[in-house]
Amino acid sequence: MAYTGDEDAAGVILDGLKKLEYRGYDSAGIATVSDNPGLTVKKGEGKIDELDTTYDFGSMTGTSGIGHTRWATHGGVSQANAHPHTSCDDRLVLVHNGIIENHKAIAERLEDDHSYTSDTDSEIIAHYLEEQLHHGVPIQDAIEQFMETADGTFAIVLLDTETDTLYALKRKSPLVLGEADHGIVLGSDLYAIAPYTDEALFFEDDEYAIIQDETFTLYDADGREQDPSFRPFDWDVEGAEKGSYDHYMLKEINEQPQAIKRLAHSLGSTQEKAREQLAQKIEDASRVIFTAAGSSYHASLMGVYHLQAAGIEAQALIASEFKNYERVDEDTLVIAVSQSGETMDVIEAIEYSKDRGGEVASIVNVPHSTIQRKSSVSLEICAGQEVCVASTKTFTNQVVTMLSLAATLRDEDHDIAAIGDEIAAVIEHNIDRVQTLASELEDADDIYVLGRGSTYPIAREIALKLKEIPYIHAEGMMGGELKHGTLALIEDGTPVISLIPTPDDPIESNVEEVEARGAHSIRVTPHGGQFDLEANEDHFALYATTIGFLLSYYIAKAKDLPIDKPRNLAKSVTVT
Ligand code: G6P
Repeated sequence: MAYTGDEDAAGVILDGLKKLEYRGYDSAGIATVSDNPGLTVKKGEGKIDELDTTYDFGSMTGTSGIGHTRWATHGGVSQANAHPHTSCDDRLVLVHNGIIENHKAIAERLEDDHSYTSDTDSEIIAHYLEEQLHHGVPIQDAIEQFMETADGTFAIVLLDTETDTLYALKRKSPLVLGEADHGIVLGSDLYAIAPYTDEALFFEDDEYAIIQDETFTLYDADGREQDPSFRPFDWDVEGAEKGSYDHYMLKEINEQPQAIKRLAHSLGSTQEKAREQLAQKIEDASRVIFTAAGSSYHASLMGVYHLQAAGIEAQALIASEFKNYERVDEDTLVIAVSQSGETMDVIEAIEYSKDRGGEVASIVNVPHSTIQRKSSVSLEICAGQEVCVASTKTFTNQVVTMLSLAATLRDEDHDIAAIGDEIAAVIEHNIDRVQTLASELEDADDIYVLGRGSTYPIAREIALKLKEIPYIHAEGMMGGELKHGTLALIEDGTPVISLIPTPDDPIESNVEEVEARGAHSIRVTPHGGQFDLEANEDHFALYATTIGFLLSYYIAKAKDLPIDKPRNLAKSVTVT
């Protein structure tokens, strides 16, 4: 996050960092420059609010500044490794997202007298540029040379304290610029700049900008001036507030009904053409491959299930493994599924596909995100901003999008808006039951979740939630696989959650297998059991998902864990 303009920079940056904290929250820092005292850098380990209490960021003076919230890659979590990083002479200070892969090789080529204060790859950028300046290279040339020299990924904002100028550089990691009434704001995504503008300039790879006196100029890597193209966006800033909820996660679970209705409306109006285009591309392709990470991968598995049911052969591949398994040709359609639209593993998978002539489509939540911009057709899931690291309403809307696509392929109407009211009823009728179960499972070390067919991806998703939020080891698996190994781990009292859409579902035999071994059997079903669920088989998977979300939430709450920002995780992972 960076700012230069009329206002106190620290206030704008602090506000932006709070919005960007979902990207990483192990350490953070802000640097500002003013006539007196000149450069001030405050940084440390911990979350932004804690650091603000320690450092009182608002007291930092100056109308230009930069800030960063970190998810550690190179170098442990420490004050020294937190950004911003400075050159030895303190003239340059910078923040960096991404990885400079050849940072060691660059360091070896620099003179010996640099004094390094961190273990990060990022610090090398400041020393490299400083050395160029000492050799009389103009700063703009030094930046272009750096971009030529550096391997890897970066979104960098550099503040030259001598001239009060910001330099913003991008390769692969997202970077966006907005013109506020009172200055220029830069951030890693729309959320950070949304309070100040409704138009955003998304940097393309290897572009950089020089920002001074509230104006900016955009260049390509060879220093040729570029015409900036701003894209309008509409983002509900208020909607991103927690309101009366204790946690964003609970708020976002409760927002599922309205998010589903918004999506249903959009797919039938503004996105109708894109939905039909995507369905046509699916029909025309000889191979359809979903690629995604985390929860979005589980939604992709649902996509595979529903497309197969609609007569389309499809597969889903974890994005980070894409290159190891895929042969893509001109008749391949790759559908990237990503909430943020910025996950680097997914971006790499789609670039690999494009290089081989494959077509790329996407299903994203964040408009204008990198993945959307790289797609020939893209559906937005219209879930609104999701703040909790673990996805809830965005997963649901990804799955609802898959249902809608499958219905389009079958040329059928599917009243997906109705799922909104059904989920509202699931929440209302089961909240007390889930809390009771949560108190029973609070001390569990392991939980197994069983599904088959359309509930298999949901079993995986519920298990992921149980790991992410209450930190319980959990496995989500196909019920039929249980007897091929995992059954050895089921003993007296082991919790096993089974997702049972119909009374005659084959999963009932797996339930009997675990019950015979003394498992604490939890049956999620509309037919008996401890929950009150409607018997609509088509939407059962989403009811079960909601039960799983609530269960993870209430177990974590009982354990007093940091629900919205679980340890070691980040919502948007823009490194590979
Ligand atoms: C991170 C998040 C997960 C998310 C995954 C994919 O690992 O912690 O919750 O599912 O990234 O993110 P995406 O934005 O591509 O859906």
